[in-house]
Amino acid sequence: MKGQYMLGASPYEIERLTFQGEVWRSMTEALFDRIGVGPGWRCLDVGAGIGVVSLPLAGRVSPGGEVAALEMAPLYAETLREQIARKDIDNLRVIEEDVRSFRAPKAAYDLIYSRWVFSFLRDVEGTLKRLLPGLKKGGFLAVEDYHHLGCAYYPNRPSFDAVIEAARKWYLKTGGNYRVAGELPAIFYRLGLKRVEVTPHIRVGGPESDLWRWSELFFIGHLPAMIREKLISVGLAARFKKDLEEVKKIPGAIFVVPTIFDVVGRR
Ligand SMILES: C[S@@+](CC[C@H](N)C(=O)[O-])C[C@H]1O[C@@H](n2cnc3c(N)ncnc32)[C@H](O)[C@@H]1O
Repeated sequence: MKGQYMLGASPYEIERLTFQGEVWRSMTEALFDRIGVGPGWRCLDVGAGIGVVSLPLAGRVSPGGEVAALEMAPLYAETLREQIARKDIDNLRVIEEDVRSFRAPKAAYDLIYSRWVFSFLRDVEGTLKRLLPGLKKGGFLAVEDYHHLGCAYYPNRPSFDAVIEAARKWYLKTGGNYRVAGELPAIFYRLGLKRVEVTPHIRVGGPESDLWRWSELFFIGHLPAMIREKLISVGLAARFKKDLEEVKKIPGAIFVVPTIFDVVGRR
């Protein structure tokens, strides 16, 4: 249904988000290094999930800094609150709210950050417009999200492209945009941000790589949901799994990740 977060919240997704957090940790740490995020910074992590970015970010901005993790799914918000309590972290708090209705406190943050959230949202520009007053003058807005092109398995099989295409249709069906990262720079400028920079990430991995595993957790893990959504048939799902098992055994098989852009602008 349009406007609903397409992947939902489940124990399976918690596992997937945890693994995903490890796979992409260095990309996001490098982004924070480039921006210069450090002690004393006040940050908002939009669509924080179970906090795989918020938790290390809270360490990075300590001492003196704070992170607010905005997350609408009660299961994820609670999972993160448990971790905060278990690790006795005093500079990370959870705001359990939908970003589409969230009103940021004025000029509160040095950094508003978001990873893999805007591709799921319908009104990206309107949402960012409401968030921006929360940024201090000179503060950074940084979004890491998909320009979901290039994604492929090789040696290629028709079932691979069909399932990847179905996943993209799923974004559109729920009101998202799997190429949102390409639209962000112009949106950032329209909203008055300055010095907008785009850094693309394209990675490739073989069947033993964490990138291949990551792809399986997404594509195989979400085949049942894509069948339920009538985006693929039961037959295509079975074909995809069989083809993938066969192709995995071929020396030189690779998975090309969908392109991700870091888009950064300053207020
Ligand atoms: C793919 S996960 C990414 C989580 C986290 N940013 C990360 O990198 O691990 C997308 C997250 O955005 C959250 N989300 C989606 N739509 C949202 C909304 N409208 N308001 C707040 N959170 C939202 C989901 O519940 C989910 O936790």
